[in-house]
Amino acid sequence: MLAHPEIDATGLLAHTSTLFRLGPDSYHGQSHWQAVMCNAVELSEALEGDTAVAVAFALLHDCRRENEWRDPQHGPRAADVAREINGRFFDFAPVRLATLCEAIRWHDAGWVSDDLTTSCCWSADRIELRRVGIEPARWGFCGATWPVAQRILSRGGAVQGAGGTW
Ligand SMILES: [Fe+2]
Ligand SMILES: [Fe+2]
Repeated sequence: MLAHPEIDATGLLAHTSTLFRLGPDSYHGQSHWQAVMCNAVELSEALEGDTAVAVAFALLHDCRRENEWRDPQHGPRAADVAREINGRFFDFAPVRLATLCEAIRWHDAGWVSDDLTTSCCWSADRIELRRVGIEPARWGFCGATWPVAQRILSRGGAVQGAGGTW
């Protein structure tokens, strides 16, 4: 598991796993979170975004999903979790916590953010659309994250599944 001085990723993963209802084979479960985390680290380190916030996003953003398809409230529910556990697995001051919570809350809205850390978070998630059979497209990335995303995507990753959501 990733070692970052500002975040207990192992503890956070264990905690969010206890909240997740869809089981180990879910498209939106732990293997997805860890893939998003790897992308988030690569994106935020390459672009000098906030890596700790991006890692927290990865391990939290889908933890309160209640189905595999349409669940528009899963972002807001996960943002509530982030607020509740600040000070436990990470300890972000208000501005960073707000960035994290807003990134989580709106991650499936289909937007592109001007905020670099938020864009790293959303890009890290969208790169993983391949797992549900959707090839990530340029429109889902900002100008900064797209070249890094292309580098990650060029390393492969099987297209599988059929249809799906963030
Ligand atoms: Fe999601
Ligand atoms: Fe996701």
